Amino acid sequence: MHRICFVCLGNICRSPTAAGVMNHLIDHAGLNVQFIIDSAGTSAYHQGEPPDVRSRTAAASRGITLTGSSRQFQVEDFHRFDHIIAMDTKNLENLHRMARDEADHARISLMRDHDPNSPPGAEVPDPYYGGTDGFETVLDICEAACRGLLARLQAEPRATTTG
Ligand code: 4NP
Repeated sequence: MHRICFVCLGNICRSPTAAGVMNHLIDHAGLNVQFIIDSAGTSAYHQGEPPDVRSRTAAASRGITLTGSSRQFQVEDFHRFDHIIAMDTKNLENLHRMARDEADHARISLMRDHDPNSPPGAEVPDPYYGGTDGFETVLDICEAACRGLLARLQAEPRATTTG
C-alpha cells in the first residue's frame, strides 16, 4: 500500500489537482487498491472549502474530477502517509519545520522532483491570483510528476512471501 498526501498552501488549487490527477492515473492502471491518496494545505485559509472552481473546470475538461474539502496539514499526517509531497519550496520548508524526526523528514519530497524531465528544485507555480492558463499549467505539471511518481513506485521491489 502506498499512502500519499500532496501539500500546497491553500489546499484548493494545486494539491487537490495533484490528488485528482494521481487518482485518475491509478484508476486507469487498475491500481486503486494499492493506493491511498489525499491532500492538505500548510495554511487553514480555505478550511472546509471545495477545490477552486477554476481548478475543477480545468480538470473536468481532461476527464478528471477533483474532490474533497480543504484541510490543514497536521503533524499526525506524518504517521498517516508514506509520501508527503510539497508543491513548492515554501511549503516544502514548512513541512520540514513540522517534521519531528528523521523518519518524518524522509517522507517529504518536492512534487516536480518526481518528474524525470524537470530540473531539480522546480516548483508547481501558484495559479490562485492568475488567469486560466495557470490552471492548465498546473495540470500539465501534475500529470508529468504523477506519471514519474507512479512509475517509480511500481518499479519498487515489493515484500514477497516465499516458502
Ligand atoms: P493552492 O493555491 O495553494 O494551490 O491551493 C492558493 C490558494 C489560496 C491562496 C494562495 C494559494 N490564498 O492566498 O488564499
